[in-house]
Amino acid sequence: MGIEAGTVEETFVAMEQKLKGIVPDVELRYKAEQAFEINKLKKDRGAIILGHNYMEPALFHSVPDFVGDSLELSRKAAETDADPIVFCGVRFMAETAKILNPDKTVLLPARGAGCSLAESITAQDVRDLKARFPGVPVVTYINTYADVKAETDICCTSGNASRVVESLGEDAVIFLPDEYLASNVAKETGKTIIFPTREPSVNPKPGIDYQMVGWHGRCEVHERFTVKDIENVRAQFPEVLVLAHPECSPEVVEASDFSSSTSKMTSYVRESDAPNYLLLTECSMGDNIAAENPEKDMVRLCSIRCPHMNEITLEDTLHALQADEQIIDVPEDIRVRALKSVQRMLEL
Ligand code: 13P
Ligand code: SF4
Repeated sequence: MGIEAGTVEETFVAMEQKLKGIVPDVELRYKAEQAFEINKLKKDRGAIILGHNYMEPALFHSVPDFVGDSLELSRKAAETDADPIVFCGVRFMAETAKILNPDKTVLLPARGAGCSLAESITAQDVRDLKARFPGVPVVTYINTYADVKAETDICCTSGNASRVVESLGEDAVIFLPDEYLASNVAKETGKTIIFPTREPSVNPKPGIDYQMVGWHGRCEVHERFTVKDIENVRAQFPEVLVLAHPECSPEVVEASDFSSSTSKMTSYVRESDAPNYLLLTECSMGDNIAAENPEKDMVRLCSIRCPHMNEITLEDTLHALQADEQIIDVPEDIRVRALKSVQRMLEL
């Protein structure tokens, strides 16, 4: 990945080849200058750039050494010798890279770049839940901050959530913080889930035999897709293949043809031969898949850009590399405890 080019013009030509019809030339000309500077500085500094699948197309196709979903990028962060690590993604992803690389500089090219799921739960919330359900192990989605990970037994991502839950072989697990991902995992693994924060008076509900305990966090992007959206598109394009990220509601996932992590959605499109595709996820990823599969028709139902992923720009990536801006730090006592749950996942 990344573009190996000796001049700005060559960078522009390489970007244009990948992004013709997706990004206007006038925008590419301007962005090629920044991409060229970033790639030059990256080489000079011995840096690595990791880019999430949701990065905007010009950035995604020009500067990252590796692109992927949360699991793949965590694996790359665990393996790399490069320093600094520039994380073109959101804060919880950069924090995970820091948890795995305490002695390296990890840069997040944005001031905010949060995540509605990570912000839905605190470390104290996890401690309170553990007190309510003593002895029940805690699985945490990687979309959480380091202090929350530090309270938990094992992490998971959208690509391995069911496998992580099943690997524990326990009668019950606490699964945090995404209500919809938890419900989708419960469905896939045939478990009954309860949400004690939505029904605080019943703890647990008398007479209900539960195997999962969920929380009420939601992704502000994926919660907006509806079954009606799918029905409308299917009415217009009867052969459409519908792919939904598992942060969508269980009803939306049920009405779709495929659901998994962002990288698995990307490979699914690559390997399928349907005439049209509907991607129920962040819309830059639709552009990135469209660029890779120019012969395939993506149905554009995309007005939803993740505001946090959207904060990562080529300008700020350049500034981060030039001035070591937005250095990610995790207090050592928290890092050491969070590392256990991240490592346990990576070892699976
Ligand atoms: P993936 O791990 O599937 O890339 O998902 C990350 C994310 O934030 C989706 O909204
Ligand atoms: Fe968080 Fe949703 Fe954005 Fe992913 S798309 S980073 S889950 S807010």
